[in-house]
Amino acid sequence: MRYFSLSHKILFAKIRKLCNFADRKLLKLYDMVNYKDLGLVNTREMFARAVDGGYAIPAFNFNNMEQMQAIIMASVETKSPVILQISKGARQYANQTLLRYMAEGAVAYAKELGCAHPEIVLHLDHGDSFELCKNCIEMGFSSVMIDGSALPYDENVALTRKVVDFAHKYDVTVEGELGVLAGVEDEVSSEVSHYTKPEEVVDFVTKTGVDSLAISIGTSHGAYKFTPEQCTVDPKTGRLLPPPLAFDVLEAVEKELPGFPIVLHGSSSVPQEDVDTINKYGGALKAAVGIPEEQLRKAAKSAVCKINIDSDSRLAMTAAIRKTLAEKPAEFDPRKYLGPARDHMKELYMHKIVNVLGSNGKLAL
Ligand code: G3H
Ligand code: 13P
Ligand code: ZN
Repeated sequence: MRYFSLSHKILFAKIRKLCNFADRKLLKLYDMVNYKDLGLVNTREMFARAVDGGYAIPAFNFNNMEQMQAIIMASVETKSPVILQISKGARQYANQTLLRYMAEGAVAYAKELGCAHPEIVLHLDHGDSFELCKNCIEMGFSSVMIDGSALPYDENVALTRKVVDFAHKYDVTVEGELGVLAGVEDEVSSEVSHYTKPEEVVDFVTKTGVDSLAISIGTSHGAYKFTPEQCTVDPKTGRLLPPPLAFDVLEAVEKELPGFPIVLHGSSSVPQEDVDTINKYGGALKAAVGIPEEQLRKAAKSAVCKINIDSDSRLAMTAAIRKTLAEKPAEFDPRKYLGPARDHMKELYMHKIVNVLGSNGKLAL
């Protein structure tokens, strides 16, 4: 048996520790999925083109296969870049690993549908912690949102900076948020909206290094964006007309940050036909009101280059399912009611891309 001096033993212990550390680093690198290997892209180039071209990229949330299929079919048929968004709630509902593999499958599916060079982003919607963003980046997301909008300003800056520092090491793009939207964002909810303060945006973007900024100009999440008291009644149709978005705030933000990518959350329009169909076939949606599409069209022509839509897809799916089940009460094969729901969602996504956001035909290749 050989004997080593204490200094040798310390040296060996140090070497062992270093080897362990290097091993773990290697393992981590090995474990980590890079979105580029999945055929996904980040948002940088598509946003730059969208800002220049005066259109917006659709960011559609998905929680299941039918939504994902409809999004990909619509984006392939319209030749549009697209952002697949996953919320924390979606991760809990559908399992984050399955959703990640679905997004990887989406690239292959788009190619199978005839799109040689799809531009698909896998984006975390409303990330609420550094750990969640890091975990998504390590799983192959190409873009993350860190939503510190409910935090005091300095804490929002610090948290966003931390996420940006990590994300940029892997060329993952980051969306931050300033200003508070009314309504529910996962577990964060606010009764009232607080518009973004244009005087804060330059400081926020400079200190955090974010790639895009979500702002609050009067949109909100869900199908009940405004109370009846906030609306006026359209004398022709008797429908509720919501108050206009704060375009003055958007213009002031653009002036502060010329050409910088701006994001609009809470941009569903709550199509009345779907609300009516749902109510006709046993639903009970009362006074649901969304953002009029002409206002979104106007926003898309400005520096707004990403528009988030989730509730409209939920309404389309529910309307189609209720209709099929009411008309065919003996039907019990899920494909027979999920199929029409998928068709209806696809119609909705195509309509948004072509008639509202203007991202059709905007693939780079
Ligand atoms: O921002 C809200 C999105 O519509 C996601 O909603 O948290 O219910 O999945 P969720
Ligand atoms: P809607 O609820 O208006 O569809 O907004 C979705 C959204 O902002 C997801 O982040
Ligand atoms: Zn949102």
